[in-house]
Amino acid sequence: MKLRSLIWIGTLAVLLAGCSQNMEVVNSGERLEDSPKPVADTNATPLARPSAEEKSQVPPFVKAYFMHMWVEALYSTPQNKHPNPSWQSPLKDPVDGRVWCTDCHVSGQIDFSKIPKIRNPMVDDFEKDKQFMAGLMKKWVERLNSDEFAAKAKLKGPVTCLTCHATNPELD
Ligand code: HEC
Ligand code: HEC
Repeated sequence: MKLRSLIWIGTLAVLLAGCSQNMEVVNSGERLEDSPKPVADTNATPLARPSAEEKSQVPPFVKAYFMHMWVEALYSTPQNKHPNPSWQSPLKDPVDGRVWCTDCHVSGQIDFSKIPKIRNPMVDDFEKDKQFMAGLMKKWVERLNSDEFAAKAKLKGPVTCLTCHATNPELD
């Protein structure tokens, strides 16, 4: 019993250490840029598709890249594969009233607006993964339209996938 709780505490400590490391990486743009490790990991198994487990550990800077692209698509023509040809900004004021990172990331521990937009080779892999992309976008659209966050007040009306995509992006 005693041994088991010791092991448990040990595991927890390792997990927490891992977490705070991630936090640091997120926190400082320069270190993100300087850190080549995830890229090296991908190259080690160039043909392997990432497993579900690996995906739950998608490096935050990969998501940050997509987040930047998505936030930009709220005020300028979307850069997805098949953008809605009659796209119009869903914002009331696309110049002075843009949705910004801190409308949704309110934790205060990390300033998300300082996380830079970096395209690295891992982005290419995830960009092709429809399921992964759709999963992310669903969460973002949900929070965008949510009364609990500040972004909604900046919208003309509810945003859907077809605000930015010409057709259902999960099917094409
Ligand atoms: C409309 C709301 C919204 C806006 C605006 C927004 N985000 Fe997010 N963001 C989310 C949600 C929801 C998640 C969680 C999705 C997930 O990781 O599965 C998320 C996840 C992330 C993550 C991954 C965090 C992790 O622990 O892996 C990063 C990094 C991120 N956002 C950065 C940004 C940046 C940078 C901006 C501004 C350019 C931004 N976000 C704007 C809603 C938003
Ligand atoms: C505000 C605009 C916007 C909305 C709303 C939006 N997307 Fe996207 N979507 C993008 C952008 C921009 C990209 C390109 C990201 C990249 O490749 O860097 C993208 C990419 C994708 C991709 C990858 C294939 C492609 O077309 O590039 C899928 C799949 C996707 N979105 C699904 C969805 C789904 C599902 C929804 C609704 C829940 C949704 N999106 C809502 C802007 C949007």
